[in-house]
Amino acid sequence: IHASLILDPAYRVGPVRRRTFGSFVEHLGRCVYSGIHDPASSTADADGFREDVIALTRELGVSTVRYPGGNFVSGYRWEDGIGPVESRPRRLDLAWHSTEPNLVGVDEFMRWSAKAGTEPMMAVNLGTRGVQEALDLLEYCNVEGGTYWSDLRRSHGAELPHNIRMWCLGNEMDGPWQLGHKTADEYGRLAEETARAMRMIDPDLELVACGSSASSMPTFGEWERTVLGHTYEQVDYVSAHAYYFEEDGDLGSFLASAVDMDHFVEAVVAAADLVRAQKKATKRIHLSFDEWNVWYQHRAESRPPSGTDWPVAPVLLEDRYNVADAVVVGGLLISLLRHTDRVHSASLAQLVNVIAPIMTEPGGRSWRQTTFHPFAQAAALARGEVLRVEVQAPLYETARYGEVPLLDAVATRDPETGETVIFAINRSLTEPLALDVDLRALPGLRVLGATSLSNPDHTWSATADDDSSVAPVANATAAVTDGRLGASLPPVSWNVIRLG
Ligand code: AHR
Repeated sequence: IHASLILDPAYRVGPVRRRTFGSFVEHLGRCVYSGIHDPASSTADADGFREDVIALTRELGVSTVRYPGGNFVSGYRWEDGIGPVESRPRRLDLAWHSTEPNLVGVDEFMRWSAKAGTEPMMAVNLGTRGVQEALDLLEYCNVEGGTYWSDLRRSHGAELPHNIRMWCLGNEMDGPWQLGHKTADEYGRLAEETARAMRMIDPDLELVACGSSASSMPTFGEWERTVLGHTYEQVDYVSAHAYYFEEDGDLGSFLASAVDMDHFVEAVVAAADLVRAQKKATKRIHLSFDEWNVWYQHRAESRPPSGTDWPVAPVLLEDRYNVADAVVVGGLLISLLRHTDRVHSASLAQLVNVIAPIMTEPGGRSWRQTTFHPFAQAAALARGEVLRVEVQAPLYETARYGEVPLLDAVATRDPETGETVIFAINRSLTEPLALDVDLRALPGLRVLGATSLSNPDHTWSATADDDSSVAPVANATAAVTDGRLGASLPPVSWNVIRLG
């Protein structure tokens, strides 16, 4: 089967944004404890952080890291996580029916961020708490000194302010599962007042209002319209969250998950622009897609403990990803990139152990899941500007989304070096795709390198013993002849072709 696309630098969507390659660390399961923090590990540094995980985070190319939740933040008292560790309280974490030991809090997280070279994206609790606690945390983090909270921070060893730019105003407040769940009007008003007060301390913050926790929510669309109706002047972003999984063996629909993400983004943009029109505003609200991934939510490992069992850092949401999952993650990255004009920030949820590209054994080895590779390649190679590509490909029928093209792709081009990179997935379960790329607008390009991630068995998953059998391998079929690029893309594959 044949498919084609056109590469043209005039088809510019917008800049490649580093923040598209963000991730997420929540106090959930083993993400923090025995994930990023594990004093028992032979790689632990003086703060108890695993240096192997820091190295993998850097290799993954993560830009921002959202923290400390997630559902967790809606019941969190941030003050529990500051000061001498031995005097910090242990608390019930109602979101994940666990015990939170508070060995890691905001100051430790900031030290970890500096070591991992990531930008923090802090979330405040607007579930069980409100304006005052958000202000206290902001004062603790961003005020230089001379006030109660800022001096307390300094007394804890953080002389300089943390200077955190991006703040999430709560988490998934549209969800009935959320502690302190609210209607759109209730949340919109609280977010508006919290944002207004936070800007009195620091007018240059970048603030994210909660959008919908899924496009399947009954309030989807109306939630965004109402919340932005209240917060439009005060916030910069509205959030979006989406998780995908293969259901009932329907791999065809699963591989088309990016179709749903495209619709999701475009619907939220429409809602935000409607409010813009109603308010006669010039400013635009952008999207922070701050939770996205493959997540098999119905599997037993996603079920929190119950009854009198309140463990510390239980095994939770530890999905093992296969090759098809990695191809879907690649497709979702393509969708985020092609919406770079309106998606200004995104977070792969999550970073370690919990629905994560990086896994650890408590006190032991760390390793890469299959989904690590598309993210790491896109974060490393997408540079300059995102180019829309005009895909012509055979369609296949999906139960969920109707007819979908077998090929999905996007390109980036660095105007300084001229390096142009095509990111593409082949959704066919059985057939290689013969890709033909029209390069007439970019004469003289050569193939600098091409890789494919695939496996005759798309259910192959990595383990601590073998995380390299399914890494991207060179694709020797990629070649430029007579101003056209040709390449064969294996069935169920994620592909990267670098031209320069
Ligand atoms: O990422 C796992 C959970 O998914 C988060 O805590 C929550 O925000 C979402 O429902």
